Amino acid sequence: MSSPPVNSAAPLLEVRDLTKRFPVKTGFGRPVRQVHAVEKVSFSIAPGEVVGLVGESGSGKTTVGRTIMRLTEPTEGQILFDGTDIAHKGAREMLAFRRRIQMVFQDPFASLNPRARIGALIAEGMEIHRIGTARERAERLAELLDLVGLPPEAAGRYPHEFSGGQRQRIGIARALAVSPSLIVADEPVSALDVSVQAQVLNLLQDLKERLGLTILFIAHDLAVV
Ligand SMILES: Nc1ncnc2c1ncn2[C@@H]1O[C@H](COP(=O)(O)OP(=O)(O)OP(=O)(O)O)[C@@H](O)[C@H]1O
Ligand SMILES: [Mg+2]
Repeated sequence: MSSPPVNSAAPLLEVRDLTKRFPVKTGFGRPVRQVHAVEKVSFSIAPGEVVGLVGESGSGKTTVGRTIMRLTEPTEGQILFDGTDIAHKGAREMLAFRRRIQMVFQDPFASLNPRARIGALIAEGMEIHRIGTARERAERLAELLDLVGLPPEAAGRYPHEFSGGQRQRIGIARALAVSPSLIVADEPVSALDVSVQAQVLNLLQDLKERLGLTILFIAHDLAVV
């Protein structure tokens, strides 16, 4: 596949009138009403830009992130990624886009499989997308651990052996493993102690500058953004 010429003015992500309503079922299983989780949200992100999405709890921020990732089906609206509307693409067509959009989740305690070692967790995406040889993946794993400030031995350990801040570093390494174009960071520090929040935010800022990342940064606190 060839890629179109790079146009610095074109947005990497453009969301137009994104709407998501969840049906709420009664005890008899009939949908009677809908939760209006997201109503006509529009915004765009240029390559290399960090855009903050701020709103109070329950305002639909996670739903916007999950819909962009297509973990949730949009009800209406367009999700233009690099010029292509991915709002209604099928699973097969989404595979290539899945690699290019990665998410860092809100809860570092719930988002990592407790039975998998850190090395396997970070390398998982590279395996799914068949990136590199086993040897190249091992090299990339070592590089990623270093990039997020974890020791090489971390690869052989399990999530419960790490603190919240360290787990969020693992989550960031996991997202970066497949070299995505866009990172959706859903309140990546809200579950962390204040002192650790600053470390993880500094890491994201540093990675943004070093790797030229494009980030949709979700928060309920304007100060964090
Ligand atoms: N799968 C679902 N089924 C039904 N309703 C849902 C579902 N997911 C989210 N909602 C509802 O959609 C609304 C928005 O939820 P969402 O999790 O997107 O909010 P949020 O802004 O991320 O909140 P927080 O800051 O607490 O993380 C809420 O009213 C929520 O109850
Ligand atoms: Mg949320």
